[in-house]
Amino acid sequence: MTTTTLAPALDDAALDLLFHEARSVHTFAEGAVDPAEITAAYETLRWAPTAMNISPLRLTVVPVGAPRERLARHMAEGNRAKTLAAPLTVVAATDPGFHTRLDTLAPTRTGLAERLETQPEQRAEMARTNGLLQVGYLLLALRARGLAVGPMGGFDADALDADLHAASGWRSLLVVNVGRAAAPDGTHPRAGRLSADDVVVTLG
Ligand SMILES: Cc1cc2nc3c(=O)[nH]c(=O)nc-3n(C[C@H](O)[C@H](O)[C@H](O)COP(=O)(O)O)c2cc1C
Repeated sequence: MTTTTLAPALDDAALDLLFHEARSVHTFAEGAVDPAEITAAYETLRWAPTAMNISPLRLTVVPVGAPRERLARHMAEGNRAKTLAAPLTVVAATDPGFHTRLDTLAPTRTGLAERLETQPEQRAEMARTNGLLQVGYLLLALRARGLAVGPMGGFDADALDADLHAASGWRSLLVVNVGRAAAPDGTHPRAGRLSADDVVVTLG
C-alpha cells in the first residue's frame, strides 16, 4: 500500500487565520460587531459533526447595556471588565432536552427520543460532550469570519443558568467575547504548545 501525505486543502493564510496566528483576545479594537455575525457563524458550524447529529449547542447573544451587566454579575472577577467592554458577547450552552428535536436531526432513529426521555443522566452527558464539541466549532467559525474570540470558562455556571436559562433548562458551557483584534496589546503572551512527538502515538 502506498502512503501519501496530503497537502492541506486550505492555504497557509486560512490556516493562520484559524490557528497559527489566531489568539485569545482580552481587549478588542473599538467598534461594534453586528450580532448577525453569531447567526452567520452558526449557519456554518451547524454542519460540523455531533454524535447521532444531536446538535445540542444553544447560543444567547448578550448586547451591551443592561443585558451585559446582568451577565457580568456571574463572571469571575478577572473576566468581568472585559465582558462589559467586549463589542459582542455570546453565552454558549447545551440543551439536555435535545432529544425533542430528533425528528429533524435524526429522523431514521426510530424510538431514540422516547428512550432518551427516560435517561436524563445519559442525555446530560451527551449534551455536554457534544455541546463542547460545537463550542470548539463556534470559535473556529467566528475566526473564519475574520473575528477574534475571547473564550471564558470563569463564571458561576449555576447562578448564570438560574438567571438566564431557568425556562429553557439549557446548561452554560462557555462565555465568548467577540470583536476585532487589537493585537498585540489585547492578548496575553503566547504560551507554547505540546509537540506532536509528545501527543501523537502510533499503536504498534
Ligand atoms: C474552555 C476555555 C476556557 C477559558 N477560560 C478563560 C477565562 O475564564 N478567562 C480568561 O481570561 N481566559 C480564558 N480562556 C482563554 C485561554 O486561557 C486561552 O485560550 C489559552 O491560554 C490560549 O491562548 P492563545 O489563544 O492566546 O494562545 C479560556 C479558553 C478556553 C478554550
